[in-house]
Amino acid sequence: MALYLITGIGGFIGSSLARALLSSGEQVRGVDNFSTGKRENIAEILDRIDFREADIGDLDAMHKACAGVDFVLHQAAIPSVPKSVQDPLGSNRANVDGTVNVLVAARDAQVTRVIYAASSSAYGDTPTLPKNEAMSPDPISPYAVAKLASERYMISFSRCYQLETVSLRYFNIFGPRQDPSSPYSGVLARFIMQMLRGEQPTIFGDGETSRDFTYIDNAVEANLLACKAPANQAAGQVFNVATGTRITLNQAFKSLQGMTAYSGQPRYEPERKGDIKHSLADISKAQAGLGYNPKVNFEEGLRRTVEWYRRK
Ligand code: UD1
Repeated sequence: MALYLITGIGGFIGSSLARALLSSGEQVRGVDNFSTGKRENIAEILDRIDFREADIGDLDAMHKACAGVDFVLHQAAIPSVPKSVQDPLGSNRANVDGTVNVLVAARDAQVTRVIYAASSSAYGDTPTLPKNEAMSPDPISPYAVAKLASERYMISFSRCYQLETVSLRYFNIFGPRQDPSSPYSGVLARFIMQMLRGEQPTIFGDGETSRDFTYIDNAVEANLLACKAPANQAAGQVFNVATGTRITLNQAFKSLQGMTAYSGQPRYEPERKGDIKHSLADISKAQAGLGYNPKVNFEEGLRRTVEWYRRK
């Protein structure tokens, strides 16, 4: 049994990781400042985790949180592209300064390994698809720059302090508990909530924007594998976490029409600043280095997610 620290445990990905670890008998500690995470996401597991309300900007709190920890799963972030365009300083504070604090605390506590929630947004709008990890990044939004900077900090701490770090470049993770309520929320969570309520969803752009939408169980699996993979294959490395298929917003809307029985059409509005047009991953490095294989495809993940929001 190992002790895992999850930063951002109140978030949709952090709380999913906590549930998976608890069900395999591991010990879980978590921190969240509830800036984007939610108390309700951890309410039913609160008695089984060591939860501390804290900000990753608080180095002292991070030192305390890392004491005795084997693995850190660093998920805490302000995860929105448009929010970072509006507030680049806030994005940098949470997504870069916060990460360096977590790394310093993990290093000082001699944690075995830190797994980082990196982002596919680092690739930017370069025309080649699918994206592989050897390509030069070309981030567009302040958010993407921050996520890439933190990824480089992960690598730096591997090189300078022998702290094992693994960066997982998430490609549009979706699933139960993703917050649908803010204009900055992930597109599928938003569409599902709106369509179940009979409200018209908005598509920014012509709807041909595409993403490698990845169901949460696949991301959870990737994190667990990243903790256990041999250091010579994983430490100081960056891996795409995705499915290797891409879906347009128009296609996603159509699938959801069937699943939610929404009969209207979407409203089309101009593209958002900072958005990238297409995103598709080559997942062969994660397959070879981590033994990662996505188990839940887009349609199945979407069905499970709609069911969860329907029951909510
Ligand atoms: C998402 C994540 C980001 C992560 C990245 C890569 C969110 C909020 N953002 O960024 O944290 O690092 O994937 O994994 O989960 N759109 C609409 N209508 C809406 C909302 C969005 O058309 O109501 C469009 C956006 O303009 C964009 C696309 O859908 O073109 C995806 O947007 P979004 O879900 O915010 O995700 P990303 O920006 O790709």
